[in-house]
Amino acid sequence: MKLNLPLALVVAILITGCSNDSTKKDNKVEELLSQMTLDEKVGQLNQYAVGPELTGPGEKTGQTKVRYDQLLSGQVGSVLNVLGAKNGREMQKQVVENTRLGIPLVFGYDVIHGYKTIFPIPLGESASWDLELMEATARVAAVETSAAGVQWTFAPMMDVGRDPRWGRVMEGAGEDTYLGAEIAKARVKGFQGSDLSSTNTIAACAKHFAGYGFSESGKDYNNVYMGQHMLLNTVIPPFKASAAVGVATFMNSFNDLDGIPSTANPYLLRDLLKGDWKYDGMVVSDWNSVGELIPHGVARNKYEAARMAINAGSDMDMEGAAYVENLKQLVEKGEVSMNVLDDAVRRVLTLKQRLGLLDDPYKYFDEAREAEQMMKKEHLDLARDAARKSIVLLKNQGNLLPLKGKRIAVIGPLAKDKDTPIGNWRAAADPNSAVSLFEGLTEGMPDVNFTYAEGCKLSIGPNNFANELQIENNDRSGFAEAIRVARSAEVVIMNLGEPAYMSGEARSRSEIGLPGLQLELLKEVYKVNKNIVLVLMNGRPLTIEWESENIPAIVEAWHLGSMAGHAIADVLSGKYNPSGKLTMSFPRSVGQIPVYYNHKMTGRPSTGSNMVFYTHHMDVERSPRYPFGYGLSYSIFSYSPVTLIDSVKTAGTSITAKVTVTNNSAADGEEVVQLYIRDVVGSITRPVLELKGFQKSMIKAGESKEFTFEITDELLSFYRRDFSFGTEPGEFEVFVGPSSAQLQSASFTLK
Ligand code: GLC
Repeated sequence: MKLNLPLALVVAILITGCSNDSTKKDNKVEELLSQMTLDEKVGQLNQYAVGPELTGPGEKTGQTKVRYDQLLSGQVGSVLNVLGAKNGREMQKQVVENTRLGIPLVFGYDVIHGYKTIFPIPLGESASWDLELMEATARVAAVETSAAGVQWTFAPMMDVGRDPRWGRVMEGAGEDTYLGAEIAKARVKGFQGSDLSSTNTIAACAKHFAGYGFSESGKDYNNVYMGQHMLLNTVIPPFKASAAVGVATFMNSFNDLDGIPSTANPYLLRDLLKGDWKYDGMVVSDWNSVGELIPHGVARNKYEAARMAINAGSDMDMEGAAYVENLKQLVEKGEVSMNVLDDAVRRVLTLKQRLGLLDDPYKYFDEAREAEQMMKKEHLDLARDAARKSIVLLKNQGNLLPLKGKRIAVIGPLAKDKDTPIGNWRAAADPNSAVSLFEGLTEGMPDVNFTYAEGCKLSIGPNNFANELQIENNDRSGFAEAIRVARSAEVVIMNLGEPAYMSGEARSRSEIGLPGLQLELLKEVYKVNKNIVLVLMNGRPLTIEWESENIPAIVEAWHLGSMAGHAIADVLSGKYNPSGKLTMSFPRSVGQIPVYYNHKMTGRPSTGSNMVFYTHHMDVERSPRYPFGYGLSYSIFSYSPVTLIDSVKTAGTSITAKVTVTNNSAADGEEVVQLYIRDVVGSITRPVLELKGFQKSMIKAGESKEFTFEITDELLSFYRRDFSFGTEPGEFEVFVGPSSAQLQSASFTLK
């Protein structure tokens, strides 16, 4: 039967039909909210770590009887670090069956670069510049995490970082705002998929909001001083982009921002996030960051801390017990309005509704699915591919790589190490579950005679999160064997770097060279054999001046995860042509920090005359050792001049930039073609360069490929002097090239 309904009526039915479902869900949240007592509302805003893993200071708080009593009496809305479908189901059952309204818990965990199958640390993976890949690895992480009874990851971390002394650069996407935003979106989409209520997707968390990557002197948790223009133009965009793609939660940062701790910062949370951006997700504090308003010196006690944080817009209190102990009294005294409280509770209930937990509290606790999902072959294959694509070839003098020769020595404390490549923030990875470099080489190159020597020890324990690392600085007893093995080899692979727990949270360093005796060992080996391939495994940019001056081949292999050894062997053997590009500059010295590509001109630009009066250090080159966007290939790429379709752009139109890249070698290879833009004159000072586009593409041997970039108003927009967002007319320079330091340019005028 054909219904001739007027279009307006059809549209109305469609909207009503669609909204019926979302209205029904909202009604469920509103219905629950209307039934809840004040105690029950407060309970939803309380999160405890209840499990063996402490990811912050404090004794085994999660095990105390007090907390279990609170859990069973509806005073806990969420737990973290509880793993396993069986454990989760049992805890969920206790809560649902013992509390008056049976509101289920939501289970959170730090799944930063994989759950059981471990992918490269995020800083390493960002060097792949492969957004689809990064979405795919987050997808697999979500499949394994959700199968283990966890519905919420505290990731992606999207703190722009320019200071490699800060250990948490390993968790992020490097120094660039544009790339950081693109990668944040990819990872959020990977974790959350298209349906948050599906049992193989998990809620993501945009963290740490905001400015954490600029902790003074790279010391973790330290103060952050920055103006509003820098906050808005450098730090905020990845968070805003994540909110725009529907990231389910945000997390506060520990730091204060020009004197105001982020956890109690109404500008960040009420004005920007929940105001301008109209964000309807939920904000969780960082570990006791509500309670830490007291040592910050802005709250005298937990009562004041709770009031400041909830009124500023922090919805849930992780591990602080400040809300559960004080919010009832604060509301009864009128110091926190019921509207503020209800808004926070609504956001928590909405998260649970979106995850499907209000409809079925047990949907994520399937032990059979957990048993079948972990470290599946396709997960490990993806891990190997991600690891290969994250490797950056820094130097290859005399084409020492790909490896030739049949007698190859493999030397160094990491060469047979199956644990370090897993890195920090390793979630539920099994210890020693990575493929070591030696295993990868011997399996991948069976015709080669590989010899081995440890040379020296590196971390002499404890190699875990809880205690300070001890690094070996005295025992040279392994040097002689290493020298003997090196002397008789055609080529030496030196595998050196940082222990897994020398980067990550609370792991800042004041010097960032190779720790312990490693450089000394390398120099001793170099005396007897100069054909050295240095393979670095590290969680941050390092200062490697002597190495860069003397060692012919250097490969940056980060902490690459479960399949590290195979991935590195794929590159060293030539099975995979390296395509990674640095997303964070490598300084020449600690004194050069911060050194990054998108710096400002200053009134005396460092490209200055031969006088002394320009921006520079007297005792070091102006450029970093290795710049942002840099990475070599076994292929040889050349770039044509960049051409613009027009020299004038008017508002609302786009202008096209074109470049042709030729592979002048016999090796097929992937290249990351990068587009940068400079706004020559602005209402505020502007960076000398800003990444505004990139394309990673396979270019076959001998092939020439044309790349085009559309330059839109969005790409030229920024937070201007008056903090409005938009473009400003004037001259712009366009750059295209293989890194931020090798560029062809053209210019146009924006009318
Ligand atoms: C930690 C980290 C945060 C993490 C949280 C829970 O202190 O700062 O990134 O998600 O606590 O482990």
